[in-house]
Amino acid sequence: MRKADILLGLQWGDEGKGKMVDFLTPKYDIIARFQGGPNAGHTLEFEGQKYVLRSIPSGIFQGGKINLIGNGVVLDPVLFRKEAEELAQSGHQLHDCLYISKKAHLILPTHRLLDQANEAAKGKAKIGTTGKGIGPTYTDKISRNGLRVGDILDRFEEKYALAHQRHMEMIYSLNEAAVAKGGTPVSLDGLESLEQEWMQAIDYLRQFHLIDSEHFVNKALAQDQTILCEGAQGSLLDVDFGSYPFVTSSNTICAGACTGLGIAPSRIGEVYGIFKAYCTRVGSGPFPTELFDETGKKIRYIGHEYGAVTGRERRCGWIDLVALRYTIMLNGVTQLLMMKSDVLDTFPVIKACTAYRINGELTRDFPFSIDENVEPVYEELPGWQTDLTHCTKQEELPQAFINYVNFLERELNTPIKIISVGPDREATIWRE
Ligand code: GDP
Ligand code: IMO
Ligand code: MG
Repeated sequence: MRKADILLGLQWGDEGKGKMVDFLTPKYDIIARFQGGPNAGHTLEFEGQKYVLRSIPSGIFQGGKINLIGNGVVLDPVLFRKEAEELAQSGHQLHDCLYISKKAHLILPTHRLLDQANEAAKGKAKIGTTGKGIGPTYTDKISRNGLRVGDILDRFEEKYALAHQRHMEMIYSLNEAAVAKGGTPVSLDGLESLEQEWMQAIDYLRQFHLIDSEHFVNKALAQDQTILCEGAQGSLLDVDFGSYPFVTSSNTICAGACTGLGIAPSRIGEVYGIFKAYCTRVGSGPFPTELFDETGKKIRYIGHEYGAVTGRERRCGWIDLVALRYTIMLNGVTQLLMMKSDVLDTFPVIKACTAYRINGELTRDFPFSIDENVEPVYEELPGWQTDLTHCTKQEELPQAFINYVNFLERELNTPIKIISVGPDREATIWRE
């Protein structure tokens, strides 16, 4: 019996998961997304082309692989259709290579409105969600009100009408509360046409292989097939362990692959933990190493740190080893992949946060809450000031960069096996 490997983000998302899943795909038979939905934006670049995937796994470009959208994913049929049709236009037909779990939950148009209404109700305390209806869809799942992909195969209109009615009552009541507080209610304009488009997208979805994916995955493992589980978001956005409540609504850590695909913990093999050489975050919430100065702006500019889904500016800062040690622990990471090393090429000094000072006390453990009392303690290392994008193998990497990598390995107590030095598939270096 084979074990499934997992690749997941260790920070606040956008670590470069799409690029690395695509890079590792040749080693696998099946690539499976296990949580999240179109809040994800996974970017891949190769042969001069750039693609951003939201719901579709990043294994579709290497040919001959099965890609699976697992039960833990939430799927918006309209966005899915758009994504699939755009890929078809660029010559990537998905009907044979994409399977979808019948137990994946559906994002309704009203879920998106509820996402907006919830954010509006929070006012200044808003989470800064991607607005894709993620929170309300997972809320319906947990409160046992959700609609699943498998539901579209039988008397779906009836089930939809009930969910619609329930959501409308919630939206009316949230709107009333908003008006009472002097806020702006969520507009229902255009909802009817959105629902029509959504229903057409449901018909489109019916053309795909809708399967009992837990059986599929376990049979594949029993037949010695290899599986790579693709995470979305990052561990610091995990609903249990992230910077709650500024998190997403799913378990982004490796346990999410067990529940999101039906793979037993004893069947997990390698856990690839992916991180950037610095740190970014989109949306609200604490970020101890955030930089508000020119250095932060420079990282954003060089790293093109703008959201792949919303186009929002990503907040940028130095690498946070306290947070990384925490997420490596939670995930049982067996190998690290370090991304966007080239973005730091021109910095004379690189800083790394090795501990937090909280009310005068030093700690290396990630605390319950991160607030203004948490002060990052930095170690400074000399920058390499060399263009890494020209490096194609380990021997070509400058000594100052190797020193930085060795320092991180010591601090994190985990081997860094892959170094990424550019967005392209080829700009990737294996370390022995
Ligand atoms: P994901 O959500 O984890 O898949 O990451 P995103 O695609 O949202 O963001 C990562 C961004 O960095 C994308 O634009 C990638 O093309 C880009 N990228 C990935 N690896 C590297 C790298 O090593 N260097 C540079 N400069 N860009 C990279
Ligand atoms: P990938 O897979 C970065 C953030 C949002 C917001 C919070 C909650 O590309 O790394 P949600 O819409 O999920 O309810 O928003 O989570 N967020 C992400 N940040 N990368 C992502 O995905 C994200 N998905 C959600 O910005 O702060
Ligand atoms: Mg992303």
